[in-house]
Amino acid sequence: MNIMIIGGTSGMGLALAKHYLSLDHTVAVCGRDLSKLATSFLQSAPSKLQTYQFDIANRADMETALQHFTENSLRSLDLLVVTAGTYFNSRTQPLDAAATLALLRTNVSGLHHAFELASKQMLHQGFGHLVAISSIAGLLKDYPSASAYSATKRAVLANCDCYRKALAPFEIAVTAVVPGYINTEKLRQINNGDASHKPFLMSEARALQHIVSAIERRQSVRVFPWQMRYIVALLNFLPLHRLWLKRR
Ligand SMILES: NC(=O)c1ccc[n+]([C@@H]2O[C@H](COP(=O)([O-])OP(=O)(O)OC[C@H]3O[C@@H](n4cnc5c(N)ncnc54)[C@H](OP(=O)(O)O)[C@@H]3O)[C@@H](O)[C@H]2O)c1
Repeated sequence: MNIMIIGGTSGMGLALAKHYLSLDHTVAVCGRDLSKLATSFLQSAPSKLQTYQFDIANRADMETALQHFTENSLRSLDLLVVTAGTYFNSRTQPLDAAATLALLRTNVSGLHHAFELASKQMLHQGFGHLVAISSIAGLLKDYPSASAYSATKRAVLANCDCYRKALAPFEIAVTAVVPGYINTEKLRQINNGDASHKPFLMSEARALQHIVSAIERRQSVRVFPWQMRYIVALLNFLPLHRLWLKRR
């Protein structure tokens, strides 16, 4: 398969890139800062790995990268995975105008541009699969300490829904991945180096299994860990959920 991962320079995106490269797929790893990629990784599969540096908010740069990867539509794009997303610890970093704009540009309009451009290519070739990473936060009716992030992840779910309905007649699948806390370097970094207090924290390796399995099954929505699905359902009904969430 030819796979593009936007947000592949670290965390879950990089884990996915390594997984697909190990299966001999051709992978385009994209992000704003390619210097984050270790030389050993870059040299691990030189004939199968391509890298593109762009900000997902910049539609023109993303289009150039996509055209290069698909050799102007001569090569297929089988799978697009958008893991690019911005999040921060809202208890230590206040939400200001710059942070709000970054959330909207990356998590919402960036994803929309990526789906729009990739689906054009997939409609041209007649098949394909679009995948985006939302969050359990996007399932919560309210997330008192991170309502802006939560709203952008709800938008990810809505975007996936729209594209799924529009592309269903053309055999193009759309998967929304909805994880709880994953013990990535970024999550640790915004929690002073230790995210172990997060409820139902999942390892990167286990989260990778979930994402890969959801993609293989062309599942519409995959929520994990399963405990979070029930907790969110409960919290959405309980008036006390604000207190519980404030403590996280
Ligand atoms: N970890 C969790 O607990 C958790 C839980 C639920 C949902 N999620 C979601 O899962 C996704 C991955 O999270 P992670 O923990 O793996 O974080 P991460 O390591 O920070 O990964 C984010 C990736 O997106 C890229 N990126 C960020 N902004 C970008 C932009 N404007 N343009 C292009 N690329 C951009 C980053 O690379 P560059 O810096 O090189 O641009 C990086 O490769 C995010 O969407 C996050 O919201 C995470």
